[in-house]
This record gives sequence, structure tokens and C-alpha cells, in this order.
Amino acid sequence: MQAYDPELYALVHRGNPGDVDFYVERCTGHSVLELGCGYGRLLGPLAQVARRYVGLELDDGLRALAEAALQALDASAAARVEVLGGDMREFDLAERFERILIPYSGLYCLGGKAGVLRCLKAARAHLRDDGRLLADAYAADAFHAEARPGDLSDDHLEPVCQVQQGRQLLEVYEQSSWNRRAQRMDVTYCYELPDGEVVHEGRIRHDYLLSSQLEKLLRDAGFAHVELAEDFDREAPDPEAELIVIEASPR
Ligand SMILES: C[S@@+](CC[C@H](N)C(=O)[O-])C[C@H]1O[C@@H](n2cnc3c(N)ncnc32)[C@H](O)[C@@H]1O
Repeated sequence: MQAYDPELYALVHRGNPGDVDFYVERCTGHSVLELGCGYGRLLGPLAQVARRYVGLELDDGLRALAEAALQALDASAAARVEVLGGDMREFDLAERFERILIPYSGLYCLGGKAGVLRCLKAARAHLRDDGRLLADAYAADAFHAEARPGDLSDDHLEPVCQVQQGRQLLEVYEQSSWNRRAQRMDVTYCYELPDGEVVHEGRIRHDYLLSSQLEKLLRDAGFAHVELAEDFDREAPDPEAELIVIEASPR
């Protein structure tokens, strides 16, 4: 299977409204480890406010884009930043952090509960006792609860957005396949020229979790204090947001 082109990935996967402000506010003045830092979407904003920022990324192409984002920083911000290759389910850095982040449904990229538990245990081992784990993911409880007779394979192509790559304007469509029993969502992103020619297809697999499962895994990994919210702004939650925002600490 063709790998998802990192530049085309970066043009489409731009985060959720309010997430940058949320992470910037929580990380200002702190040492930060972002697990699954992708192409460095949060790296720039966090490099401006964090005392230190380390991004860990498994995918070589996305990591190269994050390294390019690091190079684009001014010298004083760049001196606080590091981008590392590695697996967030199994890493060993000689450092403990005040904030560990798993933004934008990164928890659903770990193959399900066992991978998430390994990741959360590794995160706990790298978090200071007075530190905080921050994460967000799309909320799956409501759609998972909808009774469906078996798996759903959707042939329908849903328009996502238009993106400009160089001189090419591309229309992006997504097609999802949902295995409810396995709690798995496979999404194909099709990048098409105006004449309908498909120039790229990128695939993403999500093993999503329900909020009760996430809460249990956090506690099993050593997070005694767990808060789950439905949006980044607890004061004025957006009813359309459909998110789980996690703040957890060891005590
Ligand atoms: C949904 S993206 C989030 C990227 C970034 N944190 C953001 O907010 O834009 C999840 C990222 O985790 C990376 N990833 C998936 N599995 C990983 C693993 N086992 N270890 C490290 N990174 C991983 C993916 O390559 C992807 O860049």
C-alpha cells in the first residue's frame, strides 16, 4: 500500500478549533513532550511559550516536516526545541516533563487498548509527579452507541476540503469504513484534480476508544486524577465539538 504523502497529509489535517490556544495556555512556561508530533503543527506555537519542547514522531516523512518547522524558528526558540524519532508506546528519554501531550486523536493511532496502555505507562514514567498529561480525541461514545446491524462500509465519498499543492488545486474526499465490534475506523482520503483524476490516496486507521475505556486506561497507567471534558473551553463548550479533552495527573 502506498504511504500517505506527508505534505498532502499536512494540508488536510489541521487540528480542531481551539486546540492551539488550549495547549499553548496549558504549556506556557513548562517543559513539554508531545507524543506523535506529526508535521509540527503545534511545534511552532509551543516553541514560543514552552521552557523546552520535545516532539516524538514515528513516521519519517512527517518527522522530516517537523524538523523543517524547527529550522524555520528563530534561533532562541529553536534552541529550546528537539524533534525525535520513536514509538510513543515504547520510548526511554533521560528526562521528565511537566506536560505530556497527545493531541488530535493520537491515542487512536496505537492499535487499541493494549497500545494505549503501553503509551500511557511510558508517558507516566516521563511525567513529573506534579505534571499533567493533556490529550484530545474525537468523542466516539455517541456514534458507537447507535445500533447498526454489523459493520458499516461506506462507498460514499464525502467532500472534505480543497487544498492547493504548488500550482495544483486538489479536491479532497474521504471514504470511511467502520467496524463497530472492533471499534475501528479506516478512512481513505482521495486527492483529485478538477477533472476527477485521483493523484493520491492516503489511508488512516483509527482504533477508537469510548470515554469509560480511556478513563480506565489512564487510571491503570497511574493517573490518579482524571478529568474528561467535552471541549477545550469548559466555560463555553461548543455543542458541535464532539471531543474528549483529557487532563490527567499522577495525584
Ligand atoms: C493524529 S496525528 C496528530 C499529530 C499532531 N500531534 C497534531 O496535533 O497535529 C497522530 C500522530 O501520531 C503519529 N503516530 C502514530 N503512531 C505513533 C507511534 N506509535 N509513535 C509515535 N508517533 C505515532 C502519527 O504519525 C501522527 O503524526
